[in-house]
Amino acid sequence: MNFNRWSTEEIRRKVDALGPWFHNLDLHGVPTAPAHFLGDYPSVKWRHFAEVVPESLAGKTVLDIGCNAGFYAMEMKRRGAERVLAIDSRDEYLAQARFAAEVSGLEIEFRNLSVYDVGRIGERFDLVIFMGVLYHLRHPLLALDLIHEHVAGDMLLFQSMQRGSDKVEPVESNYDFWTTDPFDRAVFPKLHFVEKKYADDPTNWWIPNRACAEAMLRSAGFVIVAHPELEVYLCRRGARPQDDGAVYPAQGAGT
Ligand SMILES: C[S@@+](CC[C@H](N)C(=O)[O-])C[C@H]1O[C@@H](n2cnc3c(N)ncnc32)[C@H](O)[C@@H]1O
Repeated sequence: MNFNRWSTEEIRRKVDALGPWFHNLDLHGVPTAPAHFLGDYPSVKWRHFAEVVPESLAGKTVLDIGCNAGFYAMEMKRRGAERVLAIDSRDEYLAQARFAAEVSGLEIEFRNLSVYDVGRIGERFDLVIFMGVLYHLRHPLLALDLIHEHVAGDMLLFQSMQRGSDKVEPVESNYDFWTTDPFDRAVFPKLHFVEKKYADDPTNWWIPNRACAEAMLRSAGFVIVAHPELEVYLCRRGARPQDDGAVYPAQGAGT
């Protein structure tokens, strides 16, 4: 790939044409979202947890689910990942990501695919990235189950917006039918349903508190190994704690 074929002016024009951007990328001096409401995003966030991801991903495969303009996919390729597949359900973001990877000289495969369809990929990855997508889904636990069932091979890098209590307490193995107090407590795992909009975004459906985010990960079979900042977890794929939690649709490639 030869990014030199793009002049700064051409990059600027193309960035404008492909906008608006959610990821602020630096494309040879051209910022894609300089007025982002969260600042230089996601660079400012990445700085808080970059150290939990292996510095060298040489020989590793990576799947970035909900890649948007490809910030994390490109960072993983820069860390030497052998293969990076990045998926998103919106073509306009994939167009941004393809352009950003091309001008950055990074070889990444991009595909329009929903997280609900990861079974079609037919491959497990050493590292799955699932950042900033969970709360945009109407069926968040199904998505985690499908990731565990079909594509997670070893590590999962996960992030979710959280609202409510940031405390966690041990979860009991059972609650008696007449025990209702725990449900009134802010620390109980809670997934807040947004019927209309949150932050002007009608795709923010379910926002967990911290206890719920952690419980959902465990329940889907992920073992939390690092929690470098409030919203971000590095997990390893483990066994699902209950085998009666059927994954629907339990379909893989070719079904
Ligand atoms: C808030 S952005 C997060 C982008 C990036 N992962 C990050 O952490 O900066 C959410 C992304 O998830 C994508 N998305 C939403 N629903 C999806 C789905 N069902 N399958 C795949 N991607 C989805 C959106 O198109 C968007 O690019």
